[in-house]
Amino acid sequence: PGLDVLAKRAGLLYFGTAIDNVVLNNSQYISIAHNKSEFGQVTPSNGQKWMYIEPQQGKFNYSMGDAITKPGREAGQMGRCHTFIWHNQLPEWLTAKNWTKPELVKVLENHIRHEARHYYDSCYAWDVVNEAFNDDGTLRETMWLNTIGKSYIELAFKFARKYTSPRTRLYYNDYGIERVNNKSIAVAEMVKYFLKRGVPIDGVGLQAHFTTGRSPSYNETSASIAQYNKLGVEVALTELDVRQALPDSHEQQQAQAKIYADSVKACVDAKDCVGVTVWDFWDPVSWVPETFPGYGDACLWSANFTKKPAYYAISDML
Ligand code: XIL
Repeated sequence: PGLDVLAKRAGLLYFGTAIDNVVLNNSQYISIAHNKSEFGQVTPSNGQKWMYIEPQQGKFNYSMGDAITKPGREAGQMGRCHTFIWHNQLPEWLTAKNWTKPELVKVLENHIRHEARHYYDSCYAWDVVNEAFNDDGTLRETMWLNTIGKSYIELAFKFARKYTSPRTRLYYNDYGIERVNNKSIAVAEMVKYFLKRGVPIDGVGLQAHFTTGRSPSYNETSASIAQYNKLGVEVALTELDVRQALPDSHEQQQAQAKIYADSVKACVDAKDCVGVTVWDFWDPVSWVPETFPGYGDACLWSANFTKKPAYYAISDML
């Protein structure tokens, strides 16, 4: 049985993967990516981001996102949708202009309205806001914060609730919140504040981009998940990968395997962690080498499509 079959038996809703458009012509890749017993859920790595969805103001293009979500639906895979509001991968027309606050709020609402409606039935969850906090727990300086103020986050959630299907779970998503630390505590404070005031939020996504030798332990991840579950919102591991300092070695692969298995186990054992998504499963298309020079081999399948120890460690644990 594949990872999703095993994950469901262990009580999760899904085990999923991100898929990038660059690899859609690789049939061997696609036969794994849309194999429902391996992955019960897919996320477009890029195609639902602002620069691709609304490359010109008011002109929407869903082709890159659809190239992932449609085959996913045909294969019976759930969708996680990513992401309405981020500070990266924004189109030039949006970043270049000096918007007034009312103008930018309108632009934000219009973007969410169109994209939410297009993907109305395709998203188990939406990452409504991505990476809004700094490591010290303060809000990241972005065009959203600078022009709209800190209320941009709750505005985005309200717009998302207004235009997505009522079944769609609305998530705040971030990295570095897989331990109890200043950042994850600030996110928990925001969730608490939203719930108290009726701002719609259903979940917190822990990206879980880890590095062998520096990753959180099972207990640390469990404690961070619990701080959100305690408040009454669900959690998911949304972008799990474990990068290696290159060159990779047998020892590093064993260490990587344990990190993968411990992370998935922390989700399985939690009160309300619904699923795990890996940020791609195939090393050659991982975002890691480009973003972190000197690192790589972060995925479950190696370049020649063999399953790595990490794959077997997860499947043995499940
Ligand atoms: C990454 C993609 O995988 C890359 O292809 C792209 O060039 C940059 O973005 N956190 C996120 C994801 O929330 O959207 C990022 O995806 C990886 C880090």
